Amino acid sequence: GAPVTVSVDKIEPGQQITVEWRGKPVWIIRRTEEMLENIEKLSPRVKDPESEDPQQPAYITGAQRSIKPEFIVLVGICTHLGCVPSYRPEVAPADLGSEWLGGLFCPCHGSRFDLSGRVFANQPAPLNLEVPPYRFDDDATMTIG
Ligand code: FES
Repeated sequence: GAPVTVSVDKIEPGQQITVEWRGKPVWIIRRTEEMLENIEKLSPRVKDPESEDPQQPAYITGAQRSIKPEFIVLVGICTHLGCVPSYRPEVAPADLGSEWLGGLFCPCHGSRFDLSGRVFANQPAPLNLEVPPYRFDDDATMTIG
């Protein structure tokens, strides 16, 4: 599949957009300061906080899993059995439990991920959501692939 170029400057803070790359949904989420702080707080609660499993580009490290902390780019396919999770950015809805600080929720078997795509401990998904290869062409434009 060809690389996909996306304008990211019109994405509002807290908003998620979906683009298609190689037939897969790829999400770009523009994270707020509060979301970034919550991700740091969740590091003790996730399976692989530093994403040490070699499933993403080498330049993606640490809790933020991104080139620019503001933008997270994730393949929107659950690492369990391939369902598409939903974007649930709100903090602590009762049905998702007290540790929930906003993230991605897979409806098929209930796997929960934070806003870096890191899977919580004790969830069926084995791995964090995949980060596809991408780069910034300039402040307003990103290319995936
Ligand atoms: Fe997502 Fe099973 S496919 S939890």
